[in-house]
Amino acid sequence: MQSSFISYFRDPRDKGALTYFSIESAGENLTEGIFINELTGECYPLMNGIPVFFKDAFPPEWISKHYAGVNEFKGKFPEARIQSSNADLKWSFSSEWEAHQEKEMETTWGFTVQSRFEQFLLEVETSENEIQSKTILDAGCGNGMLTEYFSTKGMVSFGIDFSNSVFTAEAKRKSKNVCFLRGDLQQPPFGENFFDFIVSNGVIHHTRNTEHTFHELAATVKNEGKFFIWLYERKGSVLWGIKRRIFDWLRIFVSRTPAAFQKAVVLVFTKTIFFIYSLSGKKHDYETLHVDMFDSLTPRWRHYHTPEEVSRWYFENGFGAVRLTHWDNRYGFGVYASKTPITKPPGEKWVVK
Ligand SMILES: C[S@@+](CC[C@H](N)C(=O)[O-])C[C@H]1O[C@@H](n2cnc3c(N)ncnc32)[C@H](O)[C@@H]1O
Repeated sequence: MQSSFISYFRDPRDKGALTYFSIESAGENLTEGIFINELTGECYPLMNGIPVFFKDAFPPEWISKHYAGVNEFKGKFPEARIQSSNADLKWSFSSEWEAHQEKEMETTWGFTVQSRFEQFLLEVETSENEIQSKTILDAGCGNGMLTEYFSTKGMVSFGIDFSNSVFTAEAKRKSKNVCFLRGDLQQPPFGENFFDFIVSNGVIHHTRNTEHTFHELAATVKNEGKFFIWLYERKGSVLWGIKRRIFDWLRIFVSRTPAAFQKAVVLVFTKTIFFIYSLSGKKHDYETLHVDMFDSLTPRWRHYHTPEEVSRWYFENGFGAVRLTHWDNRYGFGVYASKTPITKPPGEKWVVK
């Protein structure tokens, strides 16, 4: 992580300010350290250049490896809570991105990063001129390719993901204007009115409660900032409805099994479906299908929504007219809106009458 990013984070729990203590760095590149909320003593590690904003996220091996630095830190901040939890941070999407990275794929979901960027400009009705020096959050950044591309086009870019894909993205990082972090969008480690743009492509429907996550992210958008999401569509064609139900049933079972079993099931489905596609003469890229199968079979949550429902979320969070941007496919829809500069009377909420 570049040192220029240090001051941007907030404690995901109470949004309190964080102080950074460096343990290892190489010039402006920070590699190991600790963030502390001095009011509560809550701490978050920076490991291999990635801030990890989970509760009690210090692996015991990390604490012993950085024993001297951790002790010095504790001497300076005696109230610090440096703990490791037993929570299993293995995350189905980690396997999905490992498959993507192992194959060194240059496309994501079949698209080049250049074409994904152009689609972003079209979908949020902006231009390369307009985005210069603007702050963007790629919420659920996956492999981080698009996140880094934003920074090469003049933006200050943040990529957050729950999966360990961000470690590989950081190891490959070339740009100084991109910052990858590991965290949970249900508790984003940023203050209110921070981002000019948020783009969240196929992500928040994989959280426990899509509307809650939307609300958390919406708060971090600046006035007149733009917030884009792409979600799975509840409606759609009959065939899509049937396929969706079959995969939903399978996922209830597969998402609860160990990672090795999930990988095996995904492989069997990929090979079978690829074979059926080849028989029917349908062209499909095997690697892309493999990553798609992780997405269809392994996430713990996958909710379906409608544009009408999502319009209400935007309105209730202080956004103006909603644009439906990407509806002409059977899977889902894209939607974006800008935050209105109208301020709410103190203590009042936006309510749909
Ligand atoms: C289908 S992938 C989309 C990735 C990327 N946005 C893209 O368009 O390629 C969904 C991503 O959302 C991430 N994700 C799901 N729930 C999350 C959460 N609560 N917090 C952070 N990331 C989450 C997953 O780890 C995964 O990388």
